[in-house]
Amino acid sequence: MTISFNDETFRDDYTFHNSPAAIRRFPFPFDQDSYMYSVNLEPHAGGREGTPFQKRFDVDEHYVAEMKDRAITLADDPLRCQSLPHMELAGWDFLELVMTSKAEDYPDLFTLNRDGDRWHWINRPLGIEQRFTFLDPTTLPCGPLEYITRQTQGDHALLDQRDDNLWMEAGMITSQADWSLDFDIGMNFYEWHAPVPRAHELGVFQRALKFLLALQQGAPSRRLNWTMTVNPRLDTSPENYHKWGPEKRTITPENVGSKQHLRVELQTLWRLPRSNAIAFPIRCYLLSLEDIVSQPKWGRRLHRVLRDLPDELAEYKGFAVNRPMIVDYLSRFDDGAPTSPGI
Ligand code: HEM
Repeated sequence: MTISFNDETFRDDYTFHNSPAAIRRFPFPFDQDSYMYSVNLEPHAGGREGTPFQKRFDVDEHYVAEMKDRAITLADDPLRCQSLPHMELAGWDFLELVMTSKAEDYPDLFTLNRDGDRWHWINRPLGIEQRFTFLDPTTLPCGPLEYITRQTQGDHALLDQRDDNLWMEAGMITSQADWSLDFDIGMNFYEWHAPVPRAHELGVFQRALKFLLALQQGAPSRRLNWTMTVNPRLDTSPENYHKWGPEKRTITPENVGSKQHLRVELQTLWRLPRSNAIAFPIRCYLLSLEDIVSQPKWGRRLHRVLRDLPDELAEYKGFAVNRPMIVDYLSRFDDGAPTSPGI
């Protein structure tokens, strides 16, 4: 196989790590020295070779370990995956999109043979081989959304479109930045975004929703979002806040470089063909501050962004308590040199 998969954990002993190649391809999200919410959507139409933007669904060295972590989270809490009955067709649409994309983009890892509605799927990294009948749920071990998202990095929400709004009515959410599918299921675009500061006043959500309602099949979009996470933990859910919340208090000036991670989400948006639903994969990339400053322009820029970020955003993103220590650490890697726009 072309990718060598890490043996690593995202909990307990936290053996997660990034290879030098993974550090270089990290989707650093800041194209200037300051940050504010905006409608930062662009076509998801490929990207430079080797970057996470190149393929439709990026597969990297963390794939196998991330899928193991998802299985642990689901065994503990099956409500992390839910699909209201009318969303089953959207689940099949999404399964088709992922299987056809992965088989075309990574032929050495995945194979899909189709003979009418009789499909044969091979996933080599996870050692899965499955024959099933497309659109017949009795031929899969679980629903189509759960089946394919147990094999696809990132969280995945499926949105139904009606009444000029989007409704979160299915999802597989096990690696979220402190929000809950079980709480949000059935909410619309404005309702689930209600806790976000500033963006409503800036008109960000009105413009984003207008854009999404007109999203066309075959023309996916993408955007980056980011936050900060202590320890390389995927499951930072409200359900398990008692496990990861106290870890924020373990940061010291000595360990901040290795424990504090920048968490970047590569979010893509896809119109689905039969259901007219929208699929919203949220792919999470983690990089420690220590690894970030190995790229001098990232260290410099992150220092300035975090130093000058409005308090409301640092509070909302949950790192206000550690911001002074983070900024102090990063300041050692900021020589004051001017940075150029772009990443
Ligand atoms: C945050 C879902 C699309 C902008 C969030 C949150 C959820 C969410 C659940 C966390 C809210 C909380 O604190 O409980 C979704 C879904 C989308 C979507 C399912 C698919 C339609 C977008 C788009 C934009 C956007 C297109 C474009 C501007 C934001 C922003 C935040 C946010 C700025 C705050 C993030 C942060 O500061 O960490 N979204 N979102 N979302 N969303 Fe979305």
